[in-house]
Amino acid sequence: MNQFKRLIDKLETTSYLTKEEWVMLIENRNVEISEYLFEKARKWQHKYYDNKIYTRGLIEFSNYCKNDCYYCGIRRSNRSAERYRLNKEQMMECCEIGYKLGFRTFVLQGGEDGWFSQEILEDIISTIKKKYPDCAITLSIGERSYKSYLGLFQAGADRYLLRHETAEEAHYQKLHPAELSLENRKRCLFDLKKIGYQTGTGFMVGSPGQTAASLAEDMIFISELEPHMVGIGPFVPHHETPFAKKVGGTVELTLFMIGLLRVMMPKLLLPATTALGTIDPLGREKGIQAGANVVMPNLSPTSVRKKYELYDNKICTGEESAECRTCLSQRMKNIGYELVTDRGDYCEFKEEKKCIR
Ligand code: 5AD
Ligand code: FES
Repeated sequence: MNQFKRLIDKLETTSYLTKEEWVMLIENRNVEISEYLFEKARKWQHKYYDNKIYTRGLIEFSNYCKNDCYYCGIRRSNRSAERYRLNKEQMMECCEIGYKLGFRTFVLQGGEDGWFSQEILEDIISTIKKKYPDCAITLSIGERSYKSYLGLFQAGADRYLLRHETAEEAHYQKLHPAELSLENRKRCLFDLKKIGYQTGTGFMVGSPGQTAASLAEDMIFISELEPHMVGIGPFVPHHETPFAKKVGGTVELTLFMIGLLRVMMPKLLLPATTALGTIDPLGREKGIQAGANVVMPNLSPTSVRKKYELYDNKICTGEESAECRTCLSQRMKNIGYELVTDRGDYCEFKEEKKCIR
């Protein structure tokens, strides 16, 4: 057996590779090694999650952002972005539509928008929680203080998504202005875990300046953090950002990283992301076949969808929530998987027998 397949075996049995081993494996991947990886990834995916695919309804409630990340279409310096905020009633309406469609997780995602004060956020969270006690509330609203995260958790938020973007210091600085730091990003993630959130992190694949060594650092950081979810998708250039002319990430490398994550941490919740579906019409299906087990369709009102444009050509901006649900359900069926109505908690919270490796 070749040495790279042996590295995949080592990853499977020990959940650990050295930085050098990660780099070797990533740099030397080919079709045969990828297939070997994906078979193992699907084996673990089925062991813990069967052929079930969990959904999260994404509510993009504000595209105002005080940050200026070089890759992001809603960065504050993008003067051509048409800014919007949903009010509480509009957000409740998204939840109502989503609940009827079978969503049991609502993800409230937005830019870092100071208009939504701690008090306003806590009120929105507790109102949703009261009306839908059987649903999980996920927040994706960026870097905040421990105290703020704690308050939001106590108001009823269950989960939090905050991608670390890259775990390599120098690379982090190439993607962000000086006022943002990897150190604070990591602090936020450890705070979230400590408070008790089911925590999701993640990174872009193929962002400008990324090397196999950066990806190795990402994998090592993820094994230290032990998140419940990891969202990864290709970097896709946005025409109104400093990275407009940069090349995007590939489907091929994104799938390989999804496979590695599934084999390293078999119980992970791994979304097949919208960015992956944007650069390949069958991207999400391929993501599932590489080991992913979550999809996150949009529940935002169609009137604002085009405005939450993190990258160019984002899919599903014209479709109603119901259309996306039906479409995804059919797409999953086509490849032998089933979209389920379930909160889709991390596997450790489920009955024991299913989780014994
Ligand atoms: N391409 C791909 N993903 C992007 N994100 C932001 N901008 C882009 C882009 N141009 C991702 C970031 C962020 C998530 C909400 O969207 O990883 O954490
Ligand atoms: Fe939105 Fe297919 S998922 S139309």
